[in-house]
Amino acid sequence: MTDTTGVTDTTDTTDATDATDVTHAGARSPAGRLVGKVAVVTGAGRGIGRGLALTLAREGAAVGLGARTGAEIDAVAREIVAAGGRAVAVPCDVRDRAAVECLVETTAATFGRLDIAIANAGGMHGFGPVSDVEPDDWWATHEVNVLGTLLTCRAAIPHLRSSGGGHILVMGSGARLRGGPGWSAYSSSKAAVFSLVRILAQELRSDAISVNEIIPGPVQTELADFAGATVALAPGAPGVFGGEWLKQPADVAEFVLGVLALPSRGPTAQSFSLLGRDA
Ligand SMILES: NC(=O)c1ccc[n+]([C@@H]2O[C@H](COP(=O)([O-])OP(=O)(O)OC[C@H]3O[C@@H](n4cnc5c(N)ncnc54)[C@H](OP(=O)(O)O)[C@@H]3O)[C@@H](O)[C@H]2O)c1
Repeated sequence: MTDTTGVTDTTDTTDATDATDVTHAGARSPAGRLVGKVAVVTGAGRGIGRGLALTLAREGAAVGLGARTGAEIDAVAREIVAAGGRAVAVPCDVRDRAAVECLVETTAATFGRLDIAIANAGGMHGFGPVSDVEPDDWWATHEVNVLGTLLTCRAAIPHLRSSGGGHILVMGSGARLRGGPGWSAYSSSKAAVFSLVRILAQELRSDAISVNEIIPGPVQTELADFAGATVALAPGAPGVFGGEWLKQPADVAEFVLGVLALPSRGPTAQSFSLLGRDA
């Protein structure tokens, strides 16, 4: 067990699914829109997931944070706690069923329930034309974006049922229906996610658990840098993402708050989009 800068590791660190418990007794403002709610966010160490975690915590939710890089989710958890919120960071690879279950179960056990699950972790490997793409890289994208989303949703379902309902949000992409040359891995993985949302929503309708997709459009993150969106959308650039603007993670988080304000019985099986174009 270590205790540095207020972070207390409560578990056996030889276990790959160790959790860093940084829970905090201090309550957020009673005016917060998510006071009393508990959320789990994958890919919460940086980018959109970090923005989501900070915003949900600001609004009063206790948040379970998952990603592979423990130092990044620990830093987000510290930031939440320093602002008076509650968070638990659990290193996890979303492709690993046991690790994802540990993240969700640790979150629910630490805070007593689960109301919101956000399958945000995603990646883009195997970029390039189908004729040249390395199949293992192509498949790696599907493992993170599709299997990782499935495992996150699957782990959350029993806890959301126990809470009497809740929200599942899945991070999709406009590229799922409008991919371009070189994008086959990422676009087809997000098309699978689009389908998964529709099926799962039907399966969970009677449990008062909504399942919806968030389409953020281009957001300034490491992923967007990799995909060329940051450069393409810079002022004056000709751009390949016509009609789009480059958002910050906080913009997506504010949008998600609006979706979470909707009843958990529905809307469900929907795509909520920040795109500037049709998709
Ligand atoms: N940025 C955009 O323009 C944009 C547009 C449309 C959709 N999206 C979607 O939004 C989501 C977040 O993207 P982002 O732009 O915020 O990306 P990012 O800045 O690269 O952050 C990705 C996050 O996911 C985590 N992650 C990646 N692989 C993981 C794995 N196998 N297991 C657990 N966590 C993993 C990363 O942490 P570790 O590496 O430490 O695991 C990181 O915390 C993705 O689903 C992406 O497809 C982004």
